[in-house]
Amino acid sequence: MVKYNVILFFFVYIVLSSMTFWSSGATESVDESSKLHIVYMGSLPNSVSYSPTSHHLSMLEQIIGESGVENLLVQSYKRSFNGFSAILNDQQKKKLLSMDDVVSVFPSQNFHIQTTRSWDFLGFSQSIKRDKIIESELIIGVMDTGIWPESESFNDKGFGPIPNKWMGVCKGGFNFTCNKKIIGARFYGRGVDNARDKEGHGTHTSSTAGGREVQGVSFYDLAKGTARGGVPSSRIAMYKICSLDGSCSSSDILAAFDDAIADGVDIITISIGFSYGLEFLKDPIAIGSFHAMEKGILTSHSAGNSGPSPSSTDSVAPWLFSVAATTIDRQFIDKLILGNGNILSGRSVNTFTSNGTKISIVEGSCLDSFNKTMVKGKIILCGSPWHEGSAFESGAFGIVSNVELNDVSFVSQIPSVNLDSKDYGIVQSYTNLTKSPIAEILKSEIFHDTTAPRIASFSSCGPNSVVLDIMKPDISAPGVGILAAFSPIAPPSGNVGDRRKVNYNIDSGTSMACPHIAGIAAYVKSFHPDWSPAAIKSAIMTTAKSMNGTYNNMAGEFSYGSGNVNPRLAIQPGLIYNITKEDYVQMLCSYGYDNGKIKQISGGKSSCHGASNPSLVKNLNYPALVISVFPHKPFNIKFPRTVTNVGLHNATYRAIITPIPNVKIKVEPNLLSFKSLQETQSFVVTAIGRVRSRQAEFSSSLVWSDGTHNVKSPIIVHIKS
Ligand SMILES: *[C@@H]1O[C@H](CO)[C@@H](O)[C@H](O)[C@H]1NC(C)=O
Ligand SMILES: *[C@@H]1O[C@H](CO)[C@@H](O)[C@H](O)[C@H]1NC(C)=O
Ligand SMILES: *[C@@H]1O[C@H](CO)[C@@H](O)[C@H](O)[C@H]1NC(C)=O
Ligand SMILES: *[C@@H]1O[C@H](CO)[C@@H](O)[C@H](O)[C@H]1NC(C)=O
Ligand SMILES: *[C@@H]1O[C@H](CO)[C@@H](O)[C@H](O)[C@H]1NC(C)=O
Ligand SMILES: *[C@@H]1O[C@H](CO)[C@@H](O)[C@H](O)[C@H]1NC(C)=O
Ligand SMILES: *[C@@H]1O[C@H](CO)[C@@H](O)[C@H](O)[C@H]1NC(C)=O
Repeated sequence: MVKYNVILFFFVYIVLSSMTFWSSGATESVDESSKLHIVYMGSLPNSVSYSPTSHHLSMLEQIIGESGVENLLVQSYKRSFNGFSAILNDQQKKKLLSMDDVVSVFPSQNFHIQTTRSWDFLGFSQSIKRDKIIESELIIGVMDTGIWPESESFNDKGFGPIPNKWMGVCKGGFNFTCNKKIIGARFYGRGVDNARDKEGHGTHTSSTAGGREVQGVSFYDLAKGTARGGVPSSRIAMYKICSLDGSCSSSDILAAFDDAIADGVDIITISIGFSYGLEFLKDPIAIGSFHAMEKGILTSHSAGNSGPSPSSTDSVAPWLFSVAATTIDRQFIDKLILGNGNILSGRSVNTFTSNGTKISIVEGSCLDSFNKTMVKGKIILCGSPWHEGSAFESGAFGIVSNVELNDVSFVSQIPSVNLDSKDYGIVQSYTNLTKSPIAEILKSEIFHDTTAPRIASFSSCGPNSVVLDIMKPDISAPGVGILAAFSPIAPPSGNVGDRRKVNYNIDSGTSMACPHIAGIAAYVKSFHPDWSPAAIKSAIMTTAKSMNGTYNNMAGEFSYGSGNVNPRLAIQPGLIYNITKEDYVQMLCSYGYDNGKIKQISGGKSSCHGASNPSLVKNLNYPALVISVFPHKPFNIKFPRTVTNVGLHNATYRAIITPIPNVKIKVEPNLLSFKSLQETQSFVVTAIGRVRSRQAEFSSSLVWSDGTHNVKSPIIVHIKS
């Protein structure tokens, strides 16, 4: 499993090197222990005369005891929320923490980055009903590695003028021009001089969320078809937050949120994550997306690629839309034909067509570098596929590897096939026992996978490591073998030596799933422009298709959330579970933040109603219920919930509960009658019982049905240890 994860990390994420910001000479007077820190100060004061940057500088002067602190201040957050980043030592950090205006101080850390058959697979065909005019008013903010503005997916032919509400700019830097499709570009971080994408990741995610329709694209004739985003008429604004050395720092992530919110984006998509769940006030994505939510902007976030171990997702805040990855019905497989005629089937996205000649195989030692004389022109048998780069450098013809992967194929730089252990053993013994072993690797083929959608084995899982009572991830979307636009200067296999230039590439990861949800959220918003972020999220979650929980792991809803996104139903959910900013604030109070911090975060408008009580976090009007209990202990837990009617004026909904052993679940009242739209009704779900053993999670669901709409919420019984 460890090896497996390491490999996925290598292929799917772009690995980030350590933060070298301050060591590159930001200032002379910094002592050894000084590090870049974020000083988060909550909402911006309303006063017109308030100047955030001068306040930030005066705070720094106060703690350092001298003037001339300008070069310690790295970034000032002043458009959408208050705070700054600066180089601080422990003592200065303590002084700042004791100041009234300061909510939290935390080190800036390195986050890492974690298409189009997938839409048809979701039943979201090219001919689906949509309003292109309203859609063209929507702006998707993408926080990523940049974008390739010349890509056909971002061609603005036929696009009308830029929406009036747009407050942003095109500051893409050297040789970067925006158009009526890409209407904004900014970049952050040292050493970055433009918003152009050198990794391919940001171009891929942008085109999945909002790329226009481009016909006849493929990756070397594989996955041929029409590439398109969820909302092809929408506009894109790129916030490049990952710098040349590959780091996406907390400081830059917050700067991008500060800008995107003020620029007027409608939806944010961020396929970047940390290695584990961070406490809200130390997590730049949680902080930024909270202030986005305040302004009606929903943030779609990748759940991470550290699955399937429990609590592996770092996307934990309830206002984030946390997205897991699934397979689609298209899989890439390839064949290895041995000299003895034996044909074995394996995985990889291998674009190289065989000319029919069989090539010698040699058992490689899988070191960092191969013996050139031995491997030149041959197929190397080597357990791990990440030696592909050095195999190429050594002049090898191809590589046969062995990693247990039953659901994902990666683009290879040379002819390659990844086999399971049994088949790899067959090749090994053939190679050992044959005088001149030879083999042929065929180009990848498409395999129609009837088991899809399955949750991808790499997709990060819940339960939520920060607030156990809030289900995470929330939803799942396609994230395996996605074809989307790419940067022609980035290596398609991710190996530095891969010099192929492509405009479309196949990639896998929750990074690819996240922009699918951003696109669908924008699609829902085009029908319901006045819906809150929580309403859009609820609509998408309660209409999701059920998934099979027993594939790959037993995590069930803790791997795929409410299920597999179903865009056609998401625009007419019937009922929604709304959550206001005030509700989130009360949840933060229950969680344990003190009144002073809460006031600071909410701009003084809200404060805590009572003392903190973590057991009340579950009362948040979330469209999913987590019953977390200890084994053998009797429980009686109540979940108050409120739904808003957005279906038919006149409707009666009946509650349907799927029975489960050892837990009695009742809903009171179990009939809800609505007389008008926007009417709200409240009910209480009570779970009573005692679970016997430390068995894995099991789940039920609550469905409110009026005969037309089925508003489904998962109920997960999580057994604490
Ligand atoms: C600008 O970028 C495009 C696309 O890479 C390239 O073709 C062109 O030569 C560049 N222009 C300059 C002045 O560098
Ligand atoms: C087939 O490919 C191999 C390996 O690249 C090469 O050595 C050989 O000359 C090719 N044969 C023909 C007939 O093109
Ligand atoms: C490399 O392989 C060749 C041919 O098998 C062999 O003669 C040579 O000794 C090897 N070199 C090293 C450094 O192992
Ligand atoms: C083949 O030989 C290698 C060493 O040369 C050995 O490690 C491996 O176990 C052998 N495999 C089989 C299937 O005989
Ligand atoms: C949800 O609550 C927000 C206030 O936070 C309100 O503006 C909105 O109309 C409510 N209903 C829907 C369907 O979004
Ligand atoms: C779910 O997956 C398991 C394991 O592959 C399979 O046995 C079962 O039939 C599937 N259930 C459904 C409803 O497809
Ligand atoms: C509302 O529902 C009631 C009961 O089902 C029905 O009698 C009535 O005609 C309905 N009114 C409208 C306007 O649909």
